[in-house]
Amino acid sequence: MSFFIFLYFSFMLFLFHYASSRQPLCHDGERSALLRFKESFSIDCKSASFDPSTYSKTEHWNLEEDMSDCCSWDGVECNEGTGYVIKLDLSSSCLYGHINSTSTLFNLVHLQWLSLADNYFNQSKIPCEMKNLSKLSHLNLSNSYFSGQIPSEILELSKLESLDLSGNLNWLELQQPGLESLVQKLTNLRVLNLHKVNISSSLPYVLTDLSSLNFLSLANCNLKGTILWSFGNLNNLTHLDLSGNNFQGTIPSSLYNLANLAYLDLSYCNFSSLDPDSSLGKLPASLGNLGSLEKLDLGFGDFSGQVPSSFSHLTKVKYLDLSGIHLVGDIPSCLMNLSQLSELYMCCNDQLTGPIPY
Ligand SMILES: *[C@@H]1O[C@H](CO)[C@@H](O)[C@H](O)[C@H]1NC(C)=O
Ligand SMILES: *[C@@H]1O[C@H](CO)[C@@H](O)[C@H](O)[C@H]1NC(C)=O
Ligand SMILES: *[C@@H]1O[C@H](CO)[C@@H](O)[C@H](O)[C@H]1NC(C)=O
Ligand SMILES: *[C@@H]1O[C@H](CO)[C@@H](O)[C@H](O)[C@H]1NC(C)=O
Ligand SMILES: *[C@@H]1O[C@H](CO)[C@@H](O)[C@H](O)[C@H]1NC(C)=O
Ligand SMILES: *[C@@H]1O[C@H](CO)[C@@H](O)[C@H](O)[C@H]1NC(C)=O
Ligand SMILES: *[C@@H]1O[C@H](CO)[C@@H](O)[C@H](O)[C@H]1NC(C)=O
Ligand SMILES: *[C@@H]1O[C@H](CO)[C@@H](O)[C@H](O)[C@H]1NC(C)=O
Repeated sequence: MSFFIFLYFSFMLFLFHYASSRQPLCHDGERSALLRFKESFSIDCKSASFDPSTYSKTEHWNLEEDMSDCCSWDGVECNEGTGYVIKLDLSSSCLYGHINSTSTLFNLVHLQWLSLADNYFNQSKIPCEMKNLSKLSHLNLSNSYFSGQIPSEILELSKLESLDLSGNLNWLELQQPGLESLVQKLTNLRVLNLHKVNISSSLPYVLTDLSSLNFLSLANCNLKGTILWSFGNLNNLTHLDLSGNNFQGTIPSSLYNLANLAYLDLSYCNFSSLDPDSSLGKLPASLGNLGSLEKLDLGFGDFSGQVPSSFSHLTKVKYLDLSGIHLVGDIPSCLMNLSQLSELYMCCNDQLTGPIPY
């Protein structure tokens, strides 16, 4: 008999433990906001993503008995104490349709982390109501077919540390307000990816005040003007992509101080000069100072000349693209000293001469 009582109490204890170890149920208002957000889209994995492994994360969001805790839904994360939704990762979720100011997404005001990357929002504008999500530190709207001017309300998300608006097919613009206003307001940014956002201005000086920046891509942004000397102040940069822009002048030598830079992309960059005889476009020997570089892409950039022997100091480089940059002379044997090198591209340099060293 006492054995059965023991068993009974053990069972109760187990139930108690089981119940108390579960996360708190999510708030009703947030649950219905999530469901209405889900219902405002159709699901189409073929059209919404290039990635064949995508699946609909929202498919099993529903009100059935065992699923009603929205904190346990795929892509949703709640604060364990308050039960509020703080993270929503709906990247590559086959969402297909428009998003506008009435979206119940903007009721989720406790969100700190939001990704809607790699979906299909059919040239929707980024809604101004994004500013309701004032706690966001991470916002990712990359590759999701947004268009139009980036609203000034985004600049009010002052806690942002990471902003990725890349890959929206040149349909997004950052002109009024422009990049200058953005970096003036979002001073906590560590990651800024505006690849293919049409900025259409020169690089603002305030950009180089963002001392915490470690990832910066302004590739294919229709930038003009010079690469600022003060770029050399961004000591924490590990990734710098300025490819596909039309600059004036040359690469400032301050850039060669960036001791942590592991990735540098200046491919398809033009460096126009008012003086046609100047040697500005030459491949700078000082690039060899960037001893942390693992990937250096200069392909089809506006360079010329010989491969400087200083490149033998790029001892960590794994990927080197020197295609189509008007190289002259022999293929330098110093490249053979780069023991980490696994990819080397040198095509389309029809003035290169001599044997391939080995
Ligand atoms: C916003 O989108 C919803 C569907 O997602 C639609 O019913 C509504 O009419 C749209 N509102 C505006 C103002 O475009
Ligand atoms: C956004 O916030 C404003 C003011 O806090 C509020 O009136 C509005 O209803 C919110 N919008 C949405 C879509 O939640
Ligand atoms: C944004 O999302 C895409 C797709 O999931 C991912 O590849 C990218 O790294 C994300 N960006 C940031 C800054 O985390
Ligand atoms: C995309 O939006 C356009 C214009 O609003 C509309 O005509 C078209 O049907 C939409 N496409 C899809 C697939 O929703
Ligand atoms: C970028 O913006 C500029 C200025 O508004 C415009 O002239 C240009 O056509 C745009 N480029 C693209 C690719 O849309
Ligand atoms: C630069 O990076 C280091 C190491 O990650 C960090 O300790 C330091 O605070 C960063 N500096 C700035 C200005 O963010
Ligand atoms: C660089 O200049 C060439 C020749 O003028 C031009 O065809 C190309 O579009 C320019 N590249 C960029 C990124 O503007
Ligand atoms: C390449 O390495 C060899 C052997 O370590 C060394 O003798 C030579 O000076 C190096 N060449 C350059 C250009 O650094």
